[in-house]
Amino acid sequence: MVGQSLRFAEWGAEIDARVEALLGQMTLEEKVGQMVQIHLGTLGRVEGEERIRRGQVGSVLSLYGAAEINRLQRIAVEESRLGVPLLIGNDVIHGYRTIFPIPLAESCTWDPGLVEEAARIAAEEASADGTDWTFAPMVDICHDPRWGRIAEGAGEDPFLGAAMARARVRGFQAGDLSSRRKLAACPKHYVAYGAAEAGKDYNTVDISERTLRDVYLPPFKAAFDEGAGTVMSAFNEIGGVPASANPLTLGTILRQEWGFKGVVLSDWNAIGELIAHGFAADLKEAARRSVLAGVDMDMVADAYHDHLAELVREGNVPLAIVDEAVRRVLRLKMMLGLFEQPYTDESLAEKVILKAEYREKALDLARRSMVLLKNDGLLPLGRDVKEIALIGPLADDHHEILGCWHRIGSDQDTESVLDGLRAVLPPATKVTHVRGCDLEGGEEPDLAGVARAAQDADVAIVVVGEGEAMSGEAHSRAYLGLPGQQQALLEAVHATGTPVAVVLMSGRPLAIPRLVEQVPAVLQAWHGGIRAGRAVADLLVGAANPSGKLTATWPRTEGQIPVYYAHKNTGRPVGGDSIPQFHKPNWSLHIDEVNAPLFPFGYGLSYTTFEYRDLEVETPEVDRDSTLVVGATVANTGDRAGDEVVQLYVRDLVGSVTRPVKELKSFRRISLDPGEKARVRFEVLVEQLAFHGLGTLPGQRMEYVVEPGEFKVWIGPNSAEGLEGEFRVLG
Ligand code: GLC
Repeated sequence: MVGQSLRFAEWGAEIDARVEALLGQMTLEEKVGQMVQIHLGTLGRVEGEERIRRGQVGSVLSLYGAAEINRLQRIAVEESRLGVPLLIGNDVIHGYRTIFPIPLAESCTWDPGLVEEAARIAAEEASADGTDWTFAPMVDICHDPRWGRIAEGAGEDPFLGAAMARARVRGFQAGDLSSRRKLAACPKHYVAYGAAEAGKDYNTVDISERTLRDVYLPPFKAAFDEGAGTVMSAFNEIGGVPASANPLTLGTILRQEWGFKGVVLSDWNAIGELIAHGFAADLKEAARRSVLAGVDMDMVADAYHDHLAELVREGNVPLAIVDEAVRRVLRLKMMLGLFEQPYTDESLAEKVILKAEYREKALDLARRSMVLLKNDGLLPLGRDVKEIALIGPLADDHHEILGCWHRIGSDQDTESVLDGLRAVLPPATKVTHVRGCDLEGGEEPDLAGVARAAQDADVAIVVVGEGEAMSGEAHSRAYLGLPGQQQALLEAVHATGTPVAVVLMSGRPLAIPRLVEQVPAVLQAWHGGIRAGRAVADLLVGAANPSGKLTATWPRTEGQIPVYYAHKNTGRPVGGDSIPQFHKPNWSLHIDEVNAPLFPFGYGLSYTTFEYRDLEVETPEVDRDSTLVVGATVANTGDRAGDEVVQLYVRDLVGSVTRPVKELKSFRRISLDPGEKARVRFEVLVEQLAFHGLGTLPGQRMEYVVEPGEFKVWIGPNSAEGLEGEFRVLG
């Protein structure tokens, strides 16, 4: 897809020699300086520039614009004693100025190649404007849509999450190695941040090491295998030990087991927060515990700036640990070419940012990320509709569609749904737009106004959901319905009898069973980035065919959470189709709600239909070092072309520890014309069936292994249905 990825796991002896030569010249204060990341807004410009001049800053975050970055870089390179350039880090999460759909939406394309291209574009724009390092990809697995940051990741599944992590690292770090047109990637938040209790941000995480290793770590490992140069340690504790001072995750797993050689950056003041955690008595203790655990760079806590040199001089922190951290930082800067080219060509950004081809890619990705959740035939509308009532607080919105973490993305660059409809419909089509209410419920809804508009129309398009600030960091929700008075607005439109298509915009799965029941069509558009409005319009009229598939389960109600497809069977399984029974024998269910979610992982409809036929397990028996081969035929049985994401799941029936009822092990996006069929054949390395079992050695409590035994396999359109087969792994 793009050039050779800049693999930070590999560098030459030449860089090593340069690092040693520079390290040998540095004072202890200058060494500590390389382990400090500052934010000028927090520290103050004067103090910040003075520290840079003294060689006591390694990196600056949240700084934008080549001219301003060059100005600061000149102080570091031309006024400090050793002239070590700064690393400029920014949150380039789903685009820089060309804002793409939020990452959760991007993952619903199930198209790593497309996601890689989007990351490449983000790197081209951000690096042209002076950024060297992005605090992305966010690779936190999440089973809890109450957690606002589910918006920033790739959903609930480690296998899909790993595929998206690899794609985004390739995109960020790829490019011509001699140019500065790349970004060091920074998978985050290491680790298990998405397992916060109650879905409350920053909350306690208490999971088994087995779950940590089988669910939350794999996307990080995938990012490092793809050559990611850095990683960001998280705010949360893991079973009593905060992630930003955790010897198991930062030392044993990351450095010893995985051999990661890159830079560990703490999250914002995460070292300082060890005090609130009750894990350090003061900032000096916090600095000691973090650096000994393996955090190389301190984001804005000033723990290292204030105390690290003293800790070394007192003998409480070995100098060797500081030296190794500084080596990693210097190596990263050299591999980014910062010493040779510390400054950015200030004429570049305007030539690169928001290029037409980038805007087209944003449209393509937005269309493919959107998920058709329901369609009783109302969609596609076509272009002959005479009168449309376009209703809702997000119908002509130019801001919320940017989504969380859009940073310098601008409303000016966006197209609303109203803009999109005007662009795709004939001028004669009458589109009556009525906002109807606000998002939060502060205003009295104009129920009469929307009813009047809907009354006279052939179809009503109601665009509702969340604002961009209702998901993302520190924006968890306890209720997952439509905020404010939007459901009332929808009821008023529905009551007119005019057919209603609902377009949802949100940063997370929503618990909206009543809405889904009421209306004939529901399209999940997420926060779709600068081209969201046009993408929605193309899909509604049928200029494009929806193809997105969910990567996070949608609950029927908050009471079902955590709800995810790869759950365990338990000793009393009752299956997803359980019906609420107040006197049901003792099974694992809620007596007042079914077990099945509203929409399962992998689910998404199309304007055509696909049929799965003739599953064949070509290898009914496999060795642990061989390849499982399973195929099925997929036919487009509808009347228009469409893309289908064909998914392969397995189940390990019996293990040395209990195993999930299904696990995604491969997927493929295919395009089929009407009547066309394709044989989809998956080759899955049997080693991919490994997990952390009990191990076979005496006293061993955990071993990463493929265990022999019976397996089921499915090929299907989502995690809840598909053709079933079986195979055996031989001992
Ligand atoms: C935040 C976030 C992290 C982000 C960092 C810098 O608090 O947790 O994802 O990269 O600060 O903005």
